Amino acid sequence: MSNKQLDTVLVNAGRSKRFTQGSVNSVIQRASSLVFDTVEAKKHATRNRAKGELFYGRRGTLTHFSLQEAMCELEGGAGCALFPCGAAAVANTILAFVEQGDHVLMTNSAYEPSQDFSTKILKKLGVTTGWFDPMIGAGIADLIQPNTKVVFLESPGSITLEVHDVPAIVSAVRRVAPDAIIMIDNTWAAGVLFKALEFDIDISIQAATKYLIGHSDGMIGTAVANARCWDQLRENAYLMGQMVDADTAYMTSRGLRTLGVRLRQHHESSVKIAEWLAQHPQVARVNHPALPGSKGHEFWKRDFTGSSGLFSFILKKRLNDNELAAYLDNFTLFSMAYSWGGYESLILPTQPEQLAVIRPDGKPDFNGTLIRLHIGLENVDDLLQDLSAGFERIV
Ligand SMILES: Cc1ncc(COP(=O)(O)O)c(C=O)c1O
Repeated sequence: MSNKQLDTVLVNAGRSKRFTQGSVNSVIQRASSLVFDTVEAKKHATRNRAKGELFYGRRGTLTHFSLQEAMCELEGGAGCALFPCGAAAVANTILAFVEQGDHVLMTNSAYEPSQDFSTKILKKLGVTTGWFDPMIGAGIADLIQPNTKVVFLESPGSITLEVHDVPAIVSAVRRVAPDAIIMIDNTWAAGVLFKALEFDIDISIQAATKYLIGHSDGMIGTAVANARCWDQLRENAYLMGQMVDADTAYMTSRGLRTLGVRLRQHHESSVKIAEWLAQHPQVARVNHPALPGSKGHEFWKRDFTGSSGLFSFILKKRLNDNELAAYLDNFTLFSMAYSWGGYESLILPTQPEQLAVIRPDGKPDFNGTLIRLHIGLENVDDLLQDLSAGFERIV
């Protein structure tokens, strides 16, 4: 791994001469077919097809190799598999390590489609899923079955933003089930604010759709694996036909170059807004990992190097449909949309009963309407003004 600071690595990773060929950025090599000049060249490519040699479009081109190399350097992995979106990265990474009769342990705060993949697709394959509370820590040892093959973390959790005590979870799993593969959805931390593999997690998965692309205009997933898991992940992803087009891989590499400065701004603005919300008379609670009192804040402080822009807060009041419309339809800077991690600010509501449906073996500990915010790169005072006007619509 590089001994340079993160910003420097983000600017330079994956930009060797082989990939840039005289320009600043990596080349966009669009190819299904790659041409061999000689029989010997074909043999060489075949022997090294999994080791970054040009062989066949589905194995990647220079554009993909550049991004994969950059991701390995950033996250400290032995290899990086690319997928057409984050959901594909989650599904195929789990799938690569389970077979009929196995058991998956997943946090009940995981992104809803990750849960649905387990309960709908894995179930059909004879793989069962158990759930754990995101704050479980070392207590996870009690939930491990003899057939537990995968432990799936997501930190902070979707919508409610709980931060796991990862070292406690990992050491408990390693003690009770040394063969289990530990993977994490590391999207919130953009793979760099929390260095999952340094915490002995086997695979760090990202919806690179979010912060790596950073402009809400492309979809891609990444899974960076340690040496123990890389061969199996790579070959399974390949056989499942998982790949992304060269243009999107290029956009992802380009996103890396500004990721450091973008994340710093997301951090600064989201913390300022979260602190303002925490003092607001209409707010019951703020779920922001960087705020004392947020679940797992102490673990964020210990294990993360910063915050991104996604968090949530809970209103004292449960808004009815009319109030929801008055509140949400009239923001000037916050748009309603599901994907996040771009430069723009977003807002979405979740009622407690909607959350209950996606918290298997758990239940929400609040009654008001939850509001999820993504704080973008707009001027933070303008955002505060927009939010302030929103509260006036629901007094
Ligand atoms: C935490 C998390 N993981 C995975 C995904 C899936 O990513 P994609 O939309 O690229 O499939 C999302 C999307 O919102 C997400 O929030």
